[in-house]
Amino acid sequence: MEDIESISASIHDDITKVKNLKELSTLETLYLGRNGKINELLKKMKDKGPEERKTYGQSVNLIKENFIKLLISKKQALLTTANNDDYIDVTLPGNKYPKGSLHLISVAVEEISRIFEKISFIRVSYPEVEYEFFSFESLNMPKTHAARDDFETSFIQAPQHLQYGKMLLTPHTSSGQVREMWRVGTPPIRMINIAKTYRPNWDATHTPMFFQFEGLCIDTDINITHLKGTLDYFVKAYFGNDIEARLRPHHFQFTEPSFEVDVTCTVCKGTALVDKQRCRVCKSGWLELGGTGMVHPNVLISGKIDPNIYSGWAFGFGIERVIMMKYGIDDIRNYYSGDIRFLEQF
Ligand code: PHE
Repeated sequence: MEDIESISASIHDDITKVKNLKELSTLETLYLGRNGKINELLKKMKDKGPEERKTYGQSVNLIKENFIKLLISKKQALLTTANNDDYIDVTLPGNKYPKGSLHLISVAVEEISRIFEKISFIRVSYPEVEYEFFSFESLNMPKTHAARDDFETSFIQAPQHLQYGKMLLTPHTSSGQVREMWRVGTPPIRMINIAKTYRPNWDATHTPMFFQFEGLCIDTDINITHLKGTLDYFVKAYFGNDIEARLRPHHFQFTEPSFEVDVTCTVCKGTALVDKQRCRVCKSGWLELGGTGMVHPNVLISGKIDPNIYSGWAFGFGIERVIMMKYGIDDIRNYYSGDIRFLEQF
């Protein structure tokens, strides 16, 4: 009977010490398992005399019942304790993890690609580390031509190419024009070239690396109306139906005639007025988008295309700039600051 008493006494102690469901399950096996303490007691039945056997059996069963009762109430207690690690409340709201998303420039690159894809333009990208030839000579800007200064180019310290000259960080996506003419061979050409471009400026509206998208369309009988129609289509698709494009005479070496494109100011909607005051963003109702024009015959010749048969137009716009105009962002350095509070707004 000694065993019975000591086991009966230890049950209470053992159960009180249990801190979680795992320990409780270990204790359950210790007592109720096949080789558990209670079965060990039962195995001793056969050593008892007929009289003793009856009371012994009853005592062991009582211990077992008592243990099971304590086990169940302990389990209940553990399950309702709030700080118990094992307890899972399936009705609680789940943990919220921060969501990643595409950078606003990537989003714009995709958006612009889709807009031009719809009118059969093929998206390409050409080298950012480029030869002088493709950035300048092929675009009607011979060596020593003053127009090169406009592009404030960074040269790379690398051996010169015999034909194509020095290596540089391309200052504009126009360097893809002649490469595309060579790739396609015989027009029609409908290209949208999106790439990183470089000019050493750093202020609220310039970063030394920025993105441009360049459109190029060459075919027979292409004229300015096709250019204007495409620009109107683009500005409406990208900025909204109430936005228009206009052409203002300008000069580029690689287009003739050349223009700058303006679009209706997205802030004052072209009225030049905000609350009866002159619009501070545009002052005139128009915002400048970028350069465009009819491809210069010399550029077609560089591209091995006969200017007597074919004509075309090209434009080059800054991606950061169109995003800025669309959302009214006033400092383009935000794009590259990596500040998640800024990026999360898009
Ligand atoms: N490459 C010019 C620039 O970066 C823009 C442009 C492209 C102008 C195509 C005319 C035609 O300023």
